[in-house]
Amino acid sequence: MTTHHSMAAHPVVGIVMGSDSDLTVMELTAKALERFEIPFELKISSAHRSLDATLEYIRKAEGRGIKVVIAGAGAAAHLAGVIAGQTTLPVIGVPLASTSLNGLDALFSVVQMPGGVPVATMAIGEAGAKNAGILAARILALSDEGLRRKLQSFKEALASEVEEKDRTLQKRRP
Ligand code: RP5
Repeated sequence: MTTHHSMAAHPVVGIVMGSDSDLTVMELTAKALERFEIPFELKISSAHRSLDATLEYIRKAEGRGIKVVIAGAGAAAHLAGVIAGQTTLPVIGVPLASTSLNGLDALFSVVQMPGGVPVATMAIGEAGAKNAGILAARILALSDEGLRRKLQSFKEALASEVEEKDRTLQKRRP
């Protein structure tokens, strides 16, 4: 397990990524989970370069208390799909822009899962990484009333931000 300032002793979300080159973007997933005070762990493991370690991690994840797995990877991104094939936990995939195809390669690899093995696929890159954390929060909120309230105030904050932007615009252009 890689070290991270806010990784928890009893994580309920596992954030897995294919390489340390994915970390800057996948930190946005961590940040989203921190906002909702959801304990998580970060792990670097690759479906191509360290398949045995990836399988070992995912086979033990549920028993360790992990409830949602988020997998971020770029290039021919098979990490989320390989993980989804080895667990019944919900798996959220984040396609990353790591090659000259700007993430389209990863998007197609993550989203086009065969029937029976779902991966909830997010947008490419930063927005997708952030949304993966928020979607995990929404899944966990189904059985956590306190978390549901935090999501409600987050939603209200988003609306207030847009309204504030509009007020600023109206002041500049009366
Ligand atoms: C994927 O290949 C990783 O998820 C990363 O996005 C991409 C490039 O990895 P590095 O060559 O930077 O390690 O497996």
